[in-house]
Amino acid sequence: MNQAPKRYTITAALPYTNGPVHIGHLAGVYVPADIYARYQRLQNRDVAFVCGSDEHGVPITLKAKKEGITPQEVVDKYHAIIKKSFEDFGISFDNYSRTSAKIHHETASDFFKKLYDEGKFIEEVTQQLYDEEAHQFLADRFVIGTCPKCGNEESYGDQCERCGTSHNATDLINPKSAITGSKPILKETKHWFLPLDQYESWLKSWILDGHKDDWKSNVYGQCKSWIDDGLRPRAVTRDLDWGIPVPVKGAEGKVLYVWFDAPIGYISATKEWAQRVGKDWEPYWKDKNTKLLHFIGKDNIVFHCIIFPSMLKAEGSYILPDNVPANEFLNLEGNKISTSKNWAVWLHEYLEEFPKQQDVLRYVLTANAPETKDNDFTWSDFQARNNNELVAIFGNFINRVAVLSQKYYDGQVPQPGPFSEIDLKILEELKTFPNNIAHSIEKYRFREAQAELMNVARLGNKYLADEEPWKTIKTDTERTQTVMYIAAQIAAALAILSEPFLPHTSKKLKELLQFDMLKTVPSWNSIQKNFELLPPQHHIGQGELLFGKIEDAQIQQQLDKLEASKKQNEAMNTPIAHQKETITYEDFSKLDLRVGTIVAAEKMPKANKLLVLKVDTGLDVRTIVSGIAESFSPEDIIGKKVTVLINLAPRALRGVESEGMILMTENAEGKLVFVNPDASGAENGAVIS
Ligand code: MF3
Ligand code: ZN
Repeated sequence: MNQAPKRYTITAALPYTNGPVHIGHLAGVYVPADIYARYQRLQNRDVAFVCGSDEHGVPITLKAKKEGITPQEVVDKYHAIIKKSFEDFGISFDNYSRTSAKIHHETASDFFKKLYDEGKFIEEVTQQLYDEEAHQFLADRFVIGTCPKCGNEESYGDQCERCGTSHNATDLINPKSAITGSKPILKETKHWFLPLDQYESWLKSWILDGHKDDWKSNVYGQCKSWIDDGLRPRAVTRDLDWGIPVPVKGAEGKVLYVWFDAPIGYISATKEWAQRVGKDWEPYWKDKNTKLLHFIGKDNIVFHCIIFPSMLKAEGSYILPDNVPANEFLNLEGNKISTSKNWAVWLHEYLEEFPKQQDVLRYVLTANAPETKDNDFTWSDFQARNNNELVAIFGNFINRVAVLSQKYYDGQVPQPGPFSEIDLKILEELKTFPNNIAHSIEKYRFREAQAELMNVARLGNKYLADEEPWKTIKTDTERTQTVMYIAAQIAAALAILSEPFLPHTSKKLKELLQFDMLKTVPSWNSIQKNFELLPPQHHIGQGELLFGKIEDAQIQQQLDKLEASKKQNEAMNTPIAHQKETITYEDFSKLDLRVGTIVAAEKMPKANKLLVLKVDTGLDVRTIVSGIAESFSPEDIIGKKVTVLINLAPRALRGVESEGMILMTENAEGKLVFVNPDASGAENGAVIS
């Protein structure tokens, strides 16, 4: 784009509505998109920031099957959760729509119809995978098999999550139905294909020649490898019953491929918004002075850089994305985030557990954003960044300004005296931040931009520490006034510059600084022009602290929650032991099982696993050596009622004779537990039979 864009159409990947949103989605897509959109609005740019729920596609059908409810019930449930959590978190969408909306069905249908009427599709009867047990064609996530490119044995029909390759289901080696597990057969069916091969040379010049320098290297690299591999026609319809019906004759029982309809959802969401606010949607998608941007995660690159642009190109009247700033993935405590394994920090849960601390999560996710490589979220880093950066740097500076201004001047910004050289340097430096931060944001380098923001707070802290107004107040009132005047200007700059990153904090800070009492409300650009954002005599209020410390116990709680998920997954993955060979009643009756009580316990010297127990069996108190020392400490188990096998042949363990065995099992979390006689009244010695 040569001239300055007239408007911005900013899209954020439509989340699949088969589960809530987690921190991986936030870090990869929604937080950077929101920073960008908020920043452009602060520049008074015309912005349409749109998103919505992606409600079609196999993941939703699979979830519905699993929970025994309808796909509509699945999407209604998660659409509500996701929409609310985005709102509470402060993602400033102009519209959050959904692909089950009527306006979307119409828009996607019309789009397909136009391409169909203009002969842009290939219509072809081909052999597709079919599950004879489920009586269903298998496409996309309904089929799992070996990726022809990287050998991943768990590749989906349309995309391999390991290498990112997108393929046709029939390309999979050893395909298997995800519904029944059976081996599919090939069956004929008619579909419509978008002939991507015909767009190859155009894509080459548009992306490979045209965007070599401005697209991120991870995005450019994926596109290049795709195009270099050669593009093939791609089916845009499916034999499924959940989706948008294919709007042509002879296509009964077929729907649009979810990746055909979902990106059109950006257009429908824009239309819906425009209708609501009384605007014309078309310039946002058709005027070449509009900058169209797609914020996505790396698994979506091919769809947004190759397939959707080819659809737009085929349609003919649309603009193409100016950039697709895709991020890599965020891991959690060293492991891949997984919805099915519940290895995630869910946004709606975070908001409940850390109410009013939206900005802490935003801050950490940006500070650690997976912009150029996969990154890791850890709770200890979350705590450290809050306590050592937000509280100790940003919060501390603001707190000092507020407290000292109250104490010395009843909250008024004082009249400054003459500026020293240091003052002039500080004010000069302050002026440079808006441009620097803007530059990084325009280049989609949000970590760098946020780090610059924190440097404003650092500048303020250093200035106060060097100038020590708490000392000069006793010796030089004029100097103190100057210093506090300048500190107030830095605080005001922070209130403005933090808005894209920490919108809740920015709002609180503007309230504290009483921006609404100002005749001219300062803006991003006014910082560059005139350092006096808050004039002398302007009143500063007495706000609450911007950030609170996060305690170890809160972090431990989160770690415990993750640990519980891990245990549960392990338990689910532990195969149930096979049944042993049949025995007779005589065999069974040989076992002498009794109720007993552990009356004493101590560690076996020099053995990590063994405890030496004294067990009251009703007949006697005997010694039993048990391999449970890693799960229990002696004091925890004294007094416990247990089940004891008393006629096991005695055997010596580390020189201690063990005269029986205590029955144990593992609970769902993989923890050893006693098999207790569930008869609280049973006496020691009672026979179990
Ligand atoms: N639902 C997809 C995902 O979560 C993203 C769809 S983006 C859109 O990976 F462009 F299709 F909308
Ligand atoms: Zn692969």
